[in-house]
Amino acid sequence: MNPIVPSRRDFLKGAAAAAAAGVVPMSLVKLAFADPAQDFTFAYISDAHIQHISGTKFVRNWDRGLIRAVAETNLLTPKPDFVMFGGDLGQLGMKEELDHGAEMLSKLRAPLHCVMGEHDYYLDLGEYWSKLFGPQHYSFDHKGVHFVVLNSILTHDEWTYNRWPSAQERMLQMAGLDNPNGSPFMVGEKQRAWLKADLDKVGKTTPLVVFSHSPLQKLYKGWNFWTDDAEEVQALLAPFEKANVVYGHVHQIQYNQIGNISFNAVMATAWPWPYPNSYAQAQHTMPVLTVPMNRADPFFERDATGWQFIDVHTGRVALKYNLYNNTARTVAWNPATGKPEDTVFQDPAKRVPPQVHY
Ligand SMILES: [Fe+2]
Ligand SMILES: [Fe+2]
Repeated sequence: MNPIVPSRRDFLKGAAAAAAAGVVPMSLVKLAFADPAQDFTFAYISDAHIQHISGTKFVRNWDRGLIRAVAETNLLTPKPDFVMFGGDLGQLGMKEELDHGAEMLSKLRAPLHCVMGEHDYYLDLGEYWSKLFGPQHYSFDHKGVHFVVLNSILTHDEWTYNRWPSAQERMLQMAGLDNPNGSPFMVGEKQRAWLKADLDKVGKTTPLVVFSHSPLQKLYKGWNFWTDDAEEVQALLAPFEKANVVYGHVHQIQYNQIGNISFNAVMATAWPWPYPNSYAQAQHTMPVLTVPMNRADPFFERDATGWQFIDVHTGRVALKYNLYNNTARTVAWNPATGKPEDTVFQDPAKRVPPQVHY
C-alpha cells in the first residue's frame, strides 16, 4: 500500500471511536466506507474563462481546454459520482460566455455542481449564472461526506454598488488579476451565518469538504489570492476532525495546512498563472505556507493546465492532477506529517530540477 494514503481501516478506526464516544455524526451511519461500493470519486474542472469575441466566435484555446476536460472526465472508469466546476466559467460574465460554457458542461455524463467565480459574477452580480446553475451557496451530503459550496468572491457593498459607472466597468476592474482598483474577496457575514447554522447540524467526525473559488486563506493579496474573512471561515471549519477546502481561482497546484484544515487548489483549463515569486518573501503572506510545494512549469504556456479527480475515501481529499502537458501528479494527505503532500515529488531529492527562465 502506498504509505502516503491512509487505509480505509484507519478511517474506520476513527469512525468506531466516534461511535463509541456516543457521537454518531449525522451521516456516518450511511458512510462507514465498510462497503467498497461506497467508495467514490468526483471530478473537478475549473477556470475555463470562456471568452466571447463576437457573434459565434470565442477564444479557441479556452474552449479547447474545457472541451478536453469534459471529454476526459466522461472517459473515467469508474465514473465519478459527480463533477464540480470551480468557477470562472466565463471571462466577463456575459450571457454568451455562460451559455456557451453551460452547453459544453451539459455534455458531462455525471451530475454537475458549480461554484461562483468573480468572472461569472461582477457583470450582473450572479443573476444569469444563478438562472443556469442554481444557488450560489448550499450544502449536500454524499455517501457520508458533507460538502459545502460557498460564494467566496463577494466584496464590500460600497465597491460593488457605488464605485463604478457601469456594470461592465465593475466587471473589467474585478477581472484584472493584479489590479489595485479591485477589491478583496470575502464570504461575508450573511453567508458565514448560514455556514455556521449548516455546520452546527453536522457531526464533527463527518468528513467535510468545502468548495470555494478564492482560497479560504490569505496567500497573496497583490493578486487577490486571498479571502478577507478567511480567519472567520476557518474558525467555523476548525472543529471538524477532517476539514478540506478545495478552491480554484489561482490556476495552479497549491496545497497548505492550517491547523486541522487542509487546503488544495485545482488547476485551470484555460491558462496557468505563474507563481508569485514573492510568496516566500512577501510580508503579507499570511499564513506562511507550511508545505513546500512542488509545481509544474508555469512558463510553458499550456503546462499546469488540466483537470483533476478527487478521492475522499480517507475523509481527506486526494487530488489527482491530470495535466494536459505534463506528468499527472497526486497530492494526498500524509498521515505521518499531517499535511497534504505530493505523493511522488515531495521529497526534494525526487524533484525535477528547477528550470531557469530568462
Ligand atoms: Fe480564474
Ligand atoms: Fe477567479
